[in-house]
Amino acid sequence: MNNIRNFAIIAHVDHGKSTLADRLLEITGVVVKGKHQEQVLDQNPISRERGITIKLAPVRMEYHGYILNLIDTPGHVDFSYEVERTLACVEGVILLVDATQGMQAQTIAHGYKAISLDKVIIPCVNKIDMPGADVDNTKKELAEFLGVALIDVYEISAKTGQNVENLLEVVVEKIPHPKNTKQNSLNYLDFNDSHLYRASDLGLSALIFDSYYDQYRGVIAFVRVFEGEIKKGVKVKLYATQAEFEVLEVGIFTPELTKKVRLVEGEIGYVVTNLKDIHMVRVGDTMCDLSQKQPPLPGYKTVKPMVYASLFPTDPHAYQDVKKALEKLTLNDASLTYEQIYSTALGSGLRVGFLGLLHADVVRERLEREFGVSLVLTPPTVEYKKNIVDVNIISSRRYEYSEPIARITIVTPQKFTGVVMQLCEESRGTFITMDNKSHVYLSYEMPLSELITSFYDHLKTITSGYASLDWEFIRYQSVEADKLILLLNSEPVEEFSEFVVAERAYERGRLLTQRLRDLIPRQQYEIKIQAQYKGKIIASERIVPFRKDVTQKLYGGDRSRKDKLLDRQKKGKKMMKQIGRVEIPKEVFLKLFKQ
Ligand code: GTP
Repeated sequence: MNNIRNFAIIAHVDHGKSTLADRLLEITGVVVKGKHQEQVLDQNPISRERGITIKLAPVRMEYHGYILNLIDTPGHVDFSYEVERTLACVEGVILLVDATQGMQAQTIAHGYKAISLDKVIIPCVNKIDMPGADVDNTKKELAEFLGVALIDVYEISAKTGQNVENLLEVVVEKIPHPKNTKQNSLNYLDFNDSHLYRASDLGLSALIFDSYYDQYRGVIAFVRVFEGEIKKGVKVKLYATQAEFEVLEVGIFTPELTKKVRLVEGEIGYVVTNLKDIHMVRVGDTMCDLSQKQPPLPGYKTVKPMVYASLFPTDPHAYQDVKKALEKLTLNDASLTYEQIYSTALGSGLRVGFLGLLHADVVRERLEREFGVSLVLTPPTVEYKKNIVDVNIISSRRYEYSEPIARITIVTPQKFTGVVMQLCEESRGTFITMDNKSHVYLSYEMPLSELITSFYDHLKTITSGYASLDWEFIRYQSVEADKLILLLNSEPVEEFSEFVVAERAYERGRLLTQRLRDLIPRQQYEIKIQAQYKGKIIASERIVPFRKDVTQKLYGGDRSRKDKLLDRQKKGKKMMKQIGRVEIPKEVFLKLFKQ
């Protein structure tokens, strides 16, 4: 174990993690310089195209007799749980900050996580080759944040490779090797003991930090072995789900899966489980011997979907294809949840839970691209909890609602502080703290529903793109809320209706009725569009009908004939309005959902 170093690179989006990983892979000879794709560890095609990492990626390198296990992590807030998983498997991190940007929201969020978990942190300023780099101030900011000396903040260019080899040496020197607490307490003095002897004595404890489904070999679990060892043929079990299986194969990431005889304590690698259900192999669970009686390793909180949206195939006959595609995706993305729904206008669909807006978008794109289905995604919403507060035989039931609240962190240049604070207040935010450094760090508690409706876009606009945002769900909080029902000629239309908090009901009602007025084509009869909230009509619009000139063919003739015709036309229209449902072209739904 003395020769193993397990570490991760954490940073804000685009600060250069994957690029630094490329340089490290070159120095350690895993790939040959100039002969590999950029951002080797980022294999996902959508990820590559968008230039953002959405999955963690482990790789094993060798350097001057040391085994270095690196886990590259995503920077985007939707995927920050991947950072948490990664931190549980490593002894230290490189905290990378772009010198042209300075510290940003995810630098702080991930930095705090690493601090709270007592990880060794190597602060490092990147992109020092760029003309706009403010190396001195970024170093100062980072040193202050971590409470370290300026000299302990490293500076590199991940692009040109400048100082990267030095950084690798610092990793070897500063990041502690894995330790086995039990081994220490058992006081093993004889270092000639074989691994086998020690392993059988201590029992296996391995933390699952990721998994994916392989069609032929079942679920493949990514593990960090904390105690004991694991090899082909042994029977093991998973603590949380109690699933038992015989290990088909173990190995390491080079970064491809490469078979090995065994994985021993301190190592990071994979285990082929042959289990067919990914839900049996929970990320954060402990893999142990069948006889294991010790408590499991501290895992991490399970990720729960935070935003929900409905998916409909544009071709209603493609529903089964969409469902199958989503089933396949969930095999490798346990954070996705879904259930079947039905809409009279759009047919069968699925209500899907996502981690955030980017996650929703990535999933939609993957479904469309990898499975060739064309989809409509309704605007993502949060989930309100409904609690019965009073059951009274006379007065019937009374409900109370609660909504998800997030703790948000915003980093902004000083000159935008005022407008950013104003935006937060307008978005029902509650001020928590403010820290005035070279950037201003603001912390608020804010309803998630506000956060997912264009808050981020507004933030970017008012700060000319300079502010950054991180958020984390903290709790549910009671709120006055109800369903905003959209009525077309007095008939409720489920697809347009949504849950809103009382404070937003009027604004939302007005917006939706106006949008529908503009989107629904004029018809032969009048269309009344209304928004109803808590039993009251709070907004209303109307679309005037075409008026066919029924008197056109009458030339001459007397007034009464004309009036009679007009009268008949009026009656006919009234009938239509009463009996006919408003015809809404499907495009109206698509357009309404797109905005
Ligand atoms: P996410 O995975 O999306 O969080 O991004 P990342 O942190 O992995 O950043 P990535 O390595 O994708 O780099 C982002 C962009 O910055 C890329 O266009 C890189 O080429 C560029 N870049 C990274 N490091 C440097 C550097 O040291 N100098 C210069 N000039 N550009 C760099």
